[in-house]
Amino acid sequence: MSQDIDEIQRLFNIELQQIKSLQELKSLEVVYLGRRGKINLLLKKDLSGNQVDRKKLGNEINELKKNISIKLVDYRNKLIKAPDTSPFIDPTLPGISQKMGSLHIVSYAIEQISKIFASLGFIRMSYREIEYEYFSFDSLNMPKNHPGRDDFETFFLDGNTDKKYGKMILSPHTSSCQIREMWRTPPPIKMINIAKCYRPNWDVSHTPMFHQFESLCIDKRINMTNLKGTIEFFVKNFFGKNRQIRLRPHHFQFTEPSFEVDITCDICSGTGFKSTSEKCRVCKSGWLELAGAGMVHPKVLQEGKIDSKIFSGWAFAFGLERIMMMKEGIKLDDMRLLYSGDIKFLEQF
Ligand code: DAH
Repeated sequence: MSQDIDEIQRLFNIELQQIKSLQELKSLEVVYLGRRGKINLLLKKDLSGNQVDRKKLGNEINELKKNISIKLVDYRNKLIKAPDTSPFIDPTLPGISQKMGSLHIVSYAIEQISKIFASLGFIRMSYREIEYEYFSFDSLNMPKNHPGRDDFETFFLDGNTDKKYGKMILSPHTSSCQIREMWRTPPPIKMINIAKCYRPNWDVSHTPMFHQFESLCIDKRINMTNLKGTIEFFVKNFFGKNRQIRLRPHHFQFTEPSFEVDITCDICSGTGFKSTSEKCRVCKSGWLELAGAGMVHPKVLQEGKIDSKIFSGWAFAFGLERIMMMKEGIKLDDMRLLYSGDIKFLEQF
């Protein structure tokens, strides 16, 4: 019998520790102290043995009952006083404002440019940042002694030189995409490639990593008017309706004829003068150099396995950071600031 008493006490202690609510506590009380509870069952058991033993057992059972009752009351008090762990929400307090991040202005410009060209039906392509010399130079009709191939102008990588395609480099311009795009698909081609380029330069208007966006359009009867119209459409949408462009003859190995594209200066509204006697300090002439462009050279078309007697095309490339420096409202006098990681500077935009 004493063993039963000890066992009940042991079980009760274990079960009590698992109780989490007053309701569960009430049920436990019924199981032990209820009319048909464990203690009453124990009392009803035949208490055999002599008077002394029976008295002793009775006392032990009473002791057990008292112990359980006290523990139940204590536990009940503990449950009632237990701190409420659910979070307290005071709806009258002013909210904590979250700091809003924003796109880096270069990413924002990339989005804008993509949208403008998408509206003309140009698809956006991505090509390699690590390229072979062949795609950046040879395929573009640039001879082995072209100054752009000098290591003052291009990052050369250690590693295997490909027998056919030459050394590996960090693509110094987006024009490397031209042959890859011609190999990817036959004309009609209408694509835009906005990508990182690398050249070892570091000053107010150069960073070793910068962006260009290159457009390539090849089809039957593609001519200069299409080229000028497309650049004009882009300029009016990106810079505003009041800006004018002009094409100025130039030389590139991979286009014939070739041009540089200029845009009217925003500071002096294309006049070239700050006042009647003082020249504009930004442009000096009313025009700012904007992009390189031209009709794709027949040799480049041939390299791209495109018949230059049937198809013609144009290509142009803009420096992205450069055009951002020319955009209204962005007064950027040092290009390096764009990649300085300075939140105070970037937050302005
Ligand atoms: N790749 C030239 C550069 O980085 C820019 C360029 C000029 C691209 C003329 C063209 C083009 O597509 O037709 O200086």
